[in-house]
Amino acid sequence: MTEKPTVAFAKFAAPKKGSVIVLAPEGGQLGEAAAAADPAGILPRIFTTAEFKGKLAASIEALAPQGTDYDRLAVIGTGKPDALNEQGWLQIGGAAAAAAKNATEVTVIADIAGLEPSARDIANIGLGILLRAYSFDKYKTKKDENGGKPSRNKQVRFTIQCADPNAAKKAFAAASAVADGVYLARDLVNEPANVLGPVEFAGRAEELAQLGIEIEVLTEKEMRRLGMGALLGVAQGSVRPPRLVVMRWNGGKGKQKPVAFVGKGVVFDTGGISIKPAGGMEDMKGDMAGAAAVVGLMHALAARKARVNAVGLIGLVENMPDGNAQRPGDIVTSMSGQTIEVINTDAEGRLMLADVLWYCKEEYKPQFMVNLATLTGAIIVALGNAHAGLFSNDDTLAERLTAAGLATGEKVWRMPLGSEYDKLIDTKNADMKNTGGRNAGSITAAQFLKRFVDETPWAHLDVAGTAMASPSSDINQSWASGFGVRLLDRLVADHYEG
Ligand code: BES
Ligand code: MN
Ligand code: ZN
Repeated sequence: MTEKPTVAFAKFAAPKKGSVIVLAPEGGQLGEAAAAADPAGILPRIFTTAEFKGKLAASIEALAPQGTDYDRLAVIGTGKPDALNEQGWLQIGGAAAAAAKNATEVTVIADIAGLEPSARDIANIGLGILLRAYSFDKYKTKKDENGGKPSRNKQVRFTIQCADPNAAKKAFAAASAVADGVYLARDLVNEPANVLGPVEFAGRAEELAQLGIEIEVLTEKEMRRLGMGALLGVAQGSVRPPRLVVMRWNGGKGKQKPVAFVGKGVVFDTGGISIKPAGGMEDMKGDMAGAAAVVGLMHALAARKARVNAVGLIGLVENMPDGNAQRPGDIVTSMSGQTIEVINTDAEGRLMLADVLWYCKEEYKPQFMVNLATLTGAIIVALGNAHAGLFSNDDTLAERLTAAGLATGEKVWRMPLGSEYDKLIDTKNADMKNTGGRNAGSITAAQFLKRFVDETPWAHLDVAGTAMASPSSDINQSWASGFGVRLLDRLVADHYEG
């Protein structure tokens, strides 16, 4: 993978080498420090000839400006300064990382005419740089189009010049921990399934022990003893055995009940005996994006020493067709005791989550449970790539998630639950069936999960449209977005710490 760039902070000073990036608001006026970096005064002319308007995250560049020691000067637009919000700062950072191109030494002069950015704003430029700079190139062995080795071999050093570098550095420490969590989630989702099976995935989660997270890995035998017939039914068609990983971060007060995060980790979803069509099936290596987000989140919470007790649980299985695979019509008994008729073996995520949610609730009696899952194609039909589906039995939790989504840009949209939908998964052969027919596919999936959470405040995020294959943006160029890490880190930071 690309080396994560370093981001340092410094006071305003004339840059001597590398690439220099200045910021300009809509209209193009340069701040004092920005103008000082352009001694020959070439920028105003470039603005005119290139019709640069200073729109948010737009950029323009000049090579080796006269009278300077550095190689390249780029300008990033900030839009209207009073309209700049958190995402705007992230986008500016993203645009700066893009404008840096192949430079290894980059100075960003965060001086904007008519604006006094806060330490947090500056830190968000840094976070935007990190998020944009990520790329998954570990399997590229050939030289890239610039004749260089794959970009992972060089580390880019960013220095952000600002009014109060010490304050910015402090604010950036937490942001950098969150970026590490996003990188981890993206790496896991991008990794192909031949490399990352359930056992290997569990191994990656175990590495979080280095951060002070307690890890427990349940094997097939232990899950059988617990009666997890729904999860095990999905796993039985694969030669690779399932795992259930529990990650515990105890950063809060001793007896505070934990907050809980649960992830769907289907390392590959062929559909099983109800096999998927071949076109695009390769994307199903990402069917563990919910679990990856939980691992990334736990990393972020521990790395920034969040003052919260949090548990993360991920169910890791592979959904394969073989001689031992479960069949449509099979009836399995979940850990809750409820029986399920398997109508479609491709509706496997809900089967696995049924047991993990129940186990989480019984074992940890959490304040709330939020699960993330690439659960249904139907959520992509409903919401596209711009929002994850949110389903919840608790209005407060739903509102907090919605607010965290708007703040971070990892947006969620609440969908309905109700008895009319719930009855669509009744069946005469068992307590419920695992599909509800063609209509309202994302809602019936959520109704199914709801039968395994009892009274626990709970939210289900269907991230099938947001965690993978979403269009690239100013802050993400990777197939896997890491969706959920920043959202849930914010939920915790705003409401459940201290
Ligand atoms: N993993 C898929 C959902 C999915 C689809 C994720 C596209 C990401 C992109 C899930 O296990 C699945 O197969 N769902 C079925 C449910 C159906 C059989 C009721 C679906 O959405 O078609
Ligand atoms: Mn499936
Ligand atoms: Zn799936």
